[in-house]
Amino acid sequence: MLDSLGTIKRTHYCGDLRPEHAGSVVTLFGWVHRRRDFGPLLFVDLRDREGVVQVVFNEETNGPAHSRAKEVRGEYVIGVTGKVVMRDADKVNSNISTGKIEVIGREIKIFNTAKTPPFEIDGVQASEDVRLKYRYIDLRRPKMQENIRLRHLAAITIRKYLDEHGFYEIETPMMIKSTPEGARDYIVPSRLTPGNFYALPQSPQIFKQLLMVSGYDKYFQIVRCFRDEDLRADRQPEFTQIDLEMSFVQPADVFAVIEPLMVELSRMIGVKVEMPFPKLTYAESMRRYGVDKPDTRFGMELQDISGSLADTDFTPYRTALDAGGQVKAITVGGGARYSRKRLDELTEFVKRFGAGGLAWIKTSESGEISSPLAKGLGDEKVKALAAELGSGAGDAILIAAGKPSVVAASLGNLRNEIAAAEGLTDPKRFNFLWVTDFPMFEYHEEDGRYYPMHHPFTSPNDEDLETLESRTGDVRAKAYDLVLNGVELSSGSIRIHSRELQRQVFTLLGLSDEEARAKFGFLLDALEYGTPPHGGMAIGFDRLVMLLARENSIREVISFPKTASAADLMTDSPSPVSPEQLKELHLKIE
Ligand code: AMO
Repeated sequence: MLDSLGTIKRTHYCGDLRPEHAGSVVTLFGWVHRRRDFGPLLFVDLRDREGVVQVVFNEETNGPAHSRAKEVRGEYVIGVTGKVVMRDADKVNSNISTGKIEVIGREIKIFNTAKTPPFEIDGVQASEDVRLKYRYIDLRRPKMQENIRLRHLAAITIRKYLDEHGFYEIETPMMIKSTPEGARDYIVPSRLTPGNFYALPQSPQIFKQLLMVSGYDKYFQIVRCFRDEDLRADRQPEFTQIDLEMSFVQPADVFAVIEPLMVELSRMIGVKVEMPFPKLTYAESMRRYGVDKPDTRFGMELQDISGSLADTDFTPYRTALDAGGQVKAITVGGGARYSRKRLDELTEFVKRFGAGGLAWIKTSESGEISSPLAKGLGDEKVKALAAELGSGAGDAILIAAGKPSVVAASLGNLRNEIAAAEGLTDPKRFNFLWVTDFPMFEYHEEDGRYYPMHHPFTSPNDEDLETLESRTGDVRAKAYDLVLNGVELSSGSIRIHSRELQRQVFTLLGLSDEEARAKFGFLLDALEYGTPPHGGMAIGFDRLVMLLARENSIREVISFPKTASAADLMTDSPSPVSPEQLKELHLKIE
């Protein structure tokens, strides 16, 4: 028989009880975390949001409560009234925050029973599919509760900070016009105007710009965004941004708002961060790290040895250099111990990024230099390269050659791969940095046209305005990313506020005046009604909390995430809808 809640009130959370509560009578509600039956003594570990506390039922002193307590099983929902007492010194459990005390149960109510869960709450982690199917149980796990709490605290901290800095929180619509740019839109059919569709926003980008036109000066929103794109550990089809926009600002003004906020959020988890954050141009980042989101917790920077090989006859390098390519290297501390097998694995790894292969030069502990390149380059050249690259005893140099973009991607990703394997990515360190001056456009050979590297509303750098048309590919933008430990946390830019420049950029992107009007007419109109200079950025909130929680996937910090194939295993969505629903929407499935 189940008990009713009636008028019983909770006095404390289980996890909040401490020695100072000893002597008081408390009422607790929670889930049976564990039950241990020692005959006349029955121990129930009772769990709630704040933690676990041990409750003891003693047959000798309280027969009725003891026999009722014998009925409970794991995950039953119960209420307990009892007296808090200190544990004997030899019974203290230093693994839990309530470990110095226990509760002597006087009364127990069973509010609900539970089937045996598909996995233990504090046991070995189940497979992700099972966890997601039973997410409501998975969310009971203390680590998940910690992550969700951290997410809440981060959101509160951000709201408070931005309010104090003069930002208004303003909601923007979730049903908008479909204007796919970066990713595909999720679309929503309109019942009232058959054949027409809304889209879910990929970001509030245009609306926040319009709020600047309307004079709100500083806007923010912790907002859900939707993108139908290929998913990874740090991507979900619906995710959350801390979106903000400010009027009359340069990039430095945006940085000055964001940096202290990041320092405060890092402090929440005990990580000290120095300001100002380092800045790196996109070009320098690509040159030194091979990627536009470098992890600077470790060295192993890319070094260009094309110059030293300028007159080489060695075919692979000669071919690469003659085709306008590069030869670059990284020096791996301790890499001389890498086996043939390990080097083969690393070679396969760089091939994924288009490299033809990976050459190596090892310096043994006793200083001897060996390399398969000795045949092609000669012993002297190999020694000279080892010296040039500062390879010390026990180190290995890894070399890739080819098109600059291929060499950058190969060695940039190899650098991260090796750092992770060698344990160089200290999770206790937070290395924030700004990457600035991104190229404005990227050319896609297959479509024979330019695409915006950030989005089409990003302003070109002032000094590149004159060459916008003559040297489109070289134009840099007032765009910036905030990178944390190799993760792109946030993107932003100063926007175009001139109608004429916006038209010019649309044209360069291959949008005719009519197409631009059809897609963005409202924005083009608004630009003619007094648009202030403005800019902003959007921080990936899930990624931020993932890093604060020291998790490797944003799914660990989202209450009900989707799988890599964008499915919700718990609610079984997406799923078909009824023929009536389709008819009402004038839709037919092919
Ligand atoms: P962007 O598209 O770069 O910029 O997005 C900003 C940040 O949002 C996060 N993010 C994602 N997080 C999880 N899952 C995804 N699918 C996903 N896509 C993006 C990233 C990224 O850095 N409107 C512009 C911002 C601006 O210019 O103000 C924008 O949306 O952390």
